[in-house]
Amino acid sequence: MTANRHIVPVAMTGTGMAVPPRVVTNDDLSKIMDTSDEWIRQRTGIEERRHVDEGVTPSDLALEASQKALAAAGLKPTDIDFILVATLSPEQFFPGTCSFLQAKLGLDTTPGLDIRAQCSGFVYGLEVGQALIASGQYKRILLVGVEIQSVALDMTDRGRDTAVLFGDAAGAVILEPAKNPEFGIRRVITRLEGKHTDKLGVVYPSAVGGRWIKEEHLKTAGHNPYMDGRFVFKNAVSRMPEVINEVLKDQNLGVADIDLWLFHQANLRINEYISLGMKIPPEKIYNNIHKYGNTSAATIPTLLDECVRAGRVKPGDKIMMTAFGAGFTWGAALVVWGA
Ligand code: ACO
Repeated sequence: MTANRHIVPVAMTGTGMAVPPRVVTNDDLSKIMDTSDEWIRQRTGIEERRHVDEGVTPSDLALEASQKALAAAGLKPTDIDFILVATLSPEQFFPGTCSFLQAKLGLDTTPGLDIRAQCSGFVYGLEVGQALIASGQYKRILLVGVEIQSVALDMTDRGRDTAVLFGDAAGAVILEPAKNPEFGIRRVITRLEGKHTDKLGVVYPSAVGGRWIKEEHLKTAGHNPYMDGRFVFKNAVSRMPEVINEVLKDQNLGVADIDLWLFHQANLRINEYISLGMKIPPEKIYNNIHKYGNTSAATIPTLLDECVRAGRVKPGDKIMMTAFGAGFTWGAALVVWGA
């Protein structure tokens, strides 16, 4: 296997996650909108999701996940020299969520930035974090994927097509130069197809004349997500295998060489469709969509943290992570577990 054209291999030395305690089941949703447990379960595999209580912010969830990742890596906040926050549900229009998190971590002038690549944000973050460390610019990066999506959902019949899908969560990893050159991020490939911005997104507030939040916009649901579900589904099932195959080819690996598959959790049917087509054994796939729904940029780091804490990964295991989201953005990352 070859590394991402970089000389310095970059490892994940700690993981952490946070989900709000409030569980919202499919039955809970069916009491407030025209949906059913059967419809949601059959179409998506989702059984329940977590929603924050009033007042909890993205940086609160990100802080909890970050503190756990730092503890797992044996580090304190001041050991971090750069922060990346992947999110589609920012704390404010500006400044970025990273600023709020940095302050809550008690840091003084540590730099950082937000990554706006939606559900693929964590994979994009791996690519950016790896490059920043491999270039020698930074040594320890905190990469967080965080979403509070429940507040933007239309919890009425009108919004049922998206309201049932999304949940709130945060996941974090610490990136550092790997001590063992065999371990770490081997290859990340990201892609973007901007012509499909009309298929998935949230319009308001927008820095386009006439599109800033106005009273009449509240009636149009432009501040809630829009999605052409079938179109997104079709693109997800073709783009993710495409980029996975690119990564495998680049690393001279086959499907059978991968020990653990972490797919974005937008819809269990998407992942089943892909894994059947690629002949991936179900026991090598870890899902958590049934518990949390689609947590967008937080999905992959929460999957990873649950696997790490359950002892499901051991040094030398090859982990394939892949995501697809609004933008459209997608990507895949191959990581050899260990530091
Ligand atoms: N409960 C009950 N019925 C519903 C619901 C609901 N929550 N939502 C929609 N329906 C109805 C529709 O109104 C429609 O009714 P009709 O036939 O009378 O018109 C029927 O169910 C079928 O609707 P479809 O949208 O055609 O359902 P589909 O089989 O496509 O499943 C789904 C919808 C689950 C959303 C699917 O299209 C999907 O998962 N798409 C991909 C989502 C995704 O990958 N998102 C990307 C990540 S998100 C991000 O990046 C931010």
